[in-house]
Amino acid sequence: MRIGVSTGGGDCPGLNAVIRAVVKASLNLGWEVIGIERGLEGLLDTRKIRHLTNKDIAGILNIGGTILGTTNKGNPFRMEVKEGRKIVIKDVSDKVVEGFKKLKLDALVMIGGDGTLSIAKAFYEKGIPIVGVPKTIDNDISGTVITFGFDTAVSVVTDALDRLHTTAESHQRTMVVEVMGRYCGWIALNSGISGGADVILIPEIPFDIERVCDKVRERYRKKKDFCIIVAAEGAKPKGGELFIKERKDIGKEHPLLGGIAKWVADEVRRRTKRETRYLVLGHLQRGGTPTTFDRLLATRFGASAVRLIQNGEFGKMVALIPPDIEAISLEDAVGKLKTVPLNSDIIVTARQMGISFGD
Ligand code: F6P
Repeated sequence: MRIGVSTGGGDCPGLNAVIRAVVKASLNLGWEVIGIERGLEGLLDTRKIRHLTNKDIAGILNIGGTILGTTNKGNPFRMEVKEGRKIVIKDVSDKVVEGFKKLKLDALVMIGGDGTLSIAKAFYEKGIPIVGVPKTIDNDISGTVITFGFDTAVSVVTDALDRLHTTAESHQRTMVVEVMGRYCGWIALNSGISGGADVILIPEIPFDIERVCDKVRERYRKKKDFCIIVAAEGAKPKGGELFIKERKDIGKEHPLLGGIAKWVADEVRRRTKRETRYLVLGHLQRGGTPTTFDRLLATRFGASAVRLIQNGEFGKMVALIPPDIEAISLEDAVGKLKTVPLNSDIIVTARQMGISFGD
C-alpha cells in the first residue's frame, strides 16, 4: 500500500503526533507514506510532496504545528487562482484527483477540522478512498466527544488565568480575557471553570452587559476587589451582532472573529467605574507542545486511521466514543456544529460555583 497524509485548516497541537502515528503504523505494515504539503496543494503540484520515513518523524511527537504545513484557504472546490493580474475562484478538484492517481496512492488520510473534513467527504464522493481525522482546538466537531488540541488550548488559557489572578488582585482590577473557539464556548467554559473565572461569556448564551456589570459590582461589594471575565470570541450581547475583526474574504471559509474583550472592558469600565484591562490570547492557544492527553488522543486517532485503511473502511472519520476510538461516516460528522448543550452538567456546575454567564 502507498498512502498519502495531509493536514488542512488551522494548525493545532497534536497534528505532528497524528502524522507520526500514521507513518509508524504504516511502515510497520510495510506500507509507503507520502506527505502532502499545505493541505492538498501537494496533489496539485507534486513538487510539494515528500516520502515520510522513520527519520522524518523522529522527535515530532511533542512538537506543535505540522511538519507538512497547512492552509485555511485550500479548498480545491473553491480555490483562489492567479489569472494574469487577477485572482479568480476556480474548482480544481479534478486536478487533485489526477494528482492522487499520478502519485499512485491507494488511500489518503486527511487531518482537519469541519471545513477540511467536508472537503474530504466531497473527494470521497469523487472516488478517492479517504479516511478523516478530526482536529481543532475549538472542539466543535460532531461525532467525537473531543478533538486533540482542545486540551492544550484549555491548559494554555487556564495558565493565563492563574497568572492574571495575581496581577488583577494586586491592582484591584477587572480583567477581560478573549479566547478562541469560533462559534462554540468550549474553550471559554472549560478554562473559565478551571481557572476560577467570575464571568464566562459564550456564544451559546447571549449576554446582557448590565448583568456582567452586576457581577463585577458584587465582587467589589463583597471585598473581593478584582474580577476575571473570560469572553469567547464568538459570544455576543442579547440582540447584538458577532464581533468581527476581518470580513470573510473570497478564499476563506469564516470571518475572523475578535474584538469582544475590548468592547466588554470599555463597557464595564464606563458602567462600574472600576479599573479594567483586557487582553486577547489569540494564537498562543494554538501553539506549542501538546498536553499528554492530546498526544495520546492524536496517536490513537492516527493508528486507528491506519486500521480503517487496512479494513478498507473509507469515507469515515475516526472519533473518540469512550472508551474506544470508533469510526463514523463523514456524512454524519460534517456540517453539524457541536455547541455546548445548555443543560450540560458543566454549565450547571459553573452556575453552582457562582459564575455568571451574563444572562
Ligand atoms: O478554528 C481554530 C481557530 O483558532 C478559531 O478558534 C479562530 O477563530 C480561528 O481559528 C482563527 O483563524 P486564523 O488562523 O485564520 O487566524
